[in-house]
Formats: sequence, C-alpha cells, structure tokens
Amino acid sequence: MSAAPLLELESVNAYYGKSHALQDVSLAIETGEVVALLGRNGSGRSTTLKAIMGLVAVRGGAIRFAGKPILHRATYELAKLGIAYVPEDRRIFPNLTVGENLRLASLGGRPGPWNEKRIYEYFAVLGERRDKPAKLSGGEQQMLAIARALVANPAIVLLDEPMEGLAPLIARNVEDVVQRLRAEGDTILLVEQNAQVAMSLSDRGYVLSNGRVVTSGSIPELRANGEAMQRYLAI
Ligand SMILES: Nc1ncnc2c1ncn2[C@@H]1O[C@H](COP(=O)(O)OP(=O)(O)OP(=O)(O)O)[C@@H](O)[C@H]1O
Ligand SMILES: [Mg+2]
Repeated sequence: MSAAPLLELESVNAYYGKSHALQDVSLAIETGEVVALLGRNGSGRSTTLKAIMGLVAVRGGAIRFAGKPILHRATYELAKLGIAYVPEDRRIFPNLTVGENLRLASLGGRPGPWNEKRIYEYFAVLGERRDKPAKLSGGEQQMLAIARALVANPAIVLLDEPMEGLAPLIARNVEDVVQRLRAEGDTILLVEQNAQVAMSLSDRGYVLSNGRVVTSGSIPELRANGEAMQRYLAI
C-alpha cells in the first residue's frame, strides 16, 4: 500500500454564499513537490487555498493532510499540523518589529531547521531591520510574509501570488527564494499569475477554469498540451 499524499483534496465543493466557486476539485501533493495552481483570473486558485485553510464554506468532498481529514479545523490547528498560508494581502503587522512579527509566527509552529537566526541569514534584508517596525517596501513585506510562514517549520507552504504587485527586479528576488526553497526540498502549493513563471518554478500543475480542474500533469506534459495552454492560460 502506498502512503497517503501529504495534502489531498477530493471532490471539494466551495461556496461564497450561493455562488458555487469550486466544483469537485481534486488534487494531491507529495512531500518535496512544488505544485502550481494555474488558471485565469477568477478561475478559483485563491479559493482552493482558502478551502484548505478553512476560509471559505466547503460542502461536500474531503481535504486530508497526511491521510487525516482536516476539513473544518481551526487555522491554528492547521498551523500546528504544518500547513502555512501566505495570503495575497500578506497581513504583516506594521507596528511590530520584523523580529516581533517572526516570533509571533513561530509561536504556533513546530520544531525544525528554521529559527529567527536562520531567517536573517536567508533574508539579509530582514536581518537589517529586525528591531525596526515592519514598515517595509512591497518586496520586503513579501519576504517577511514568506519568512513568517517558514519560521513555523511547516510541512507545506501555500503561496498566493507572492510576486504580485512587485517591481520586476524585486519579483525576481522572490522567485529566487521560491527556487531556493524548492532546491532544498520544501513542499509548496504555488499560485502565480504569470503561468510561465509558475511553471518554471514547479514540478507539476493543475489548471483551473470556472472552479473546476480542467487538466493536470507534469510541467512538460502541460507545456505539450498546446490547446489547454492556449485555451485556459492564453499562452
Ligand atoms: N469573497 C468572495 N465573495 C464572492 N465571490 C468571490 C469571493 N472571492 C472570490 N469570489 C469569486 O470566486 C471565483 C474564484 O475566485 P478566486 O479568488 O479563487 O480567483 P483566482 O483564480 O484566485 O483569480 P484572481 O486572484 O486573479 O482573482 C471568482 O468568480 C470570484 O469572483
Ligand atoms: Mg487569487
């Protein structure tokens, strides 16, 4: 018998009020994989991450982490299990210092290789500002948002458009961070608007359209599916 995937969605249906945002979405992620959620604006990528985090109404279907059902668990319980979520809006605390932001984030976390010191080695820009209020540029905020996820030593990180709204050079820095985490074997579920960038950072992908998974596969398989690339991703 093969082991359960690290994270698994099985026929998940999610709703905003009466609006049926996710329809029978199934996907699975193994430890060590970077998996992209691809699709156009409004296709349901963020909603998929929110469903995992219990931030949208899910009715029907199952979400399992290491084989155990996690639907309707509290956010802090998910963090404790090892699921870290970096939402689009970053939600850092600008009146706290960078260090305070990190220490708060590590509270609900797990033991592991990441601690505040290692974060400052990895993200030099944060080290320079550890004792300063986190009134940061967009790129620095995104680094802090990712650092806050990592410092809890998660088993998987859900990243929602980490490069969104950043100047190209800064976006490249965030891309490099994702690339480096991937090389170190971290497990990431990635939403990134630029499908080419998303695919360059990932091992596999799921393509969403109107809240459904329309195709999935390894990145080479997806790239070879010219019709799907054109129809669902306009590339
Ligand atoms: N809070 C909400 N209330 C009602 N409908 C919502 C809400 N958030 C998203 N939706 C709708 O659900 C659908 C999926 O949205 P979602 O945010 O998952 O899209 P996405 O793929 O992340 O794209 P993008 O981030 O570019 O908007 C869209 O039709 C969107 O309008
Ligand atoms: Mg989104």
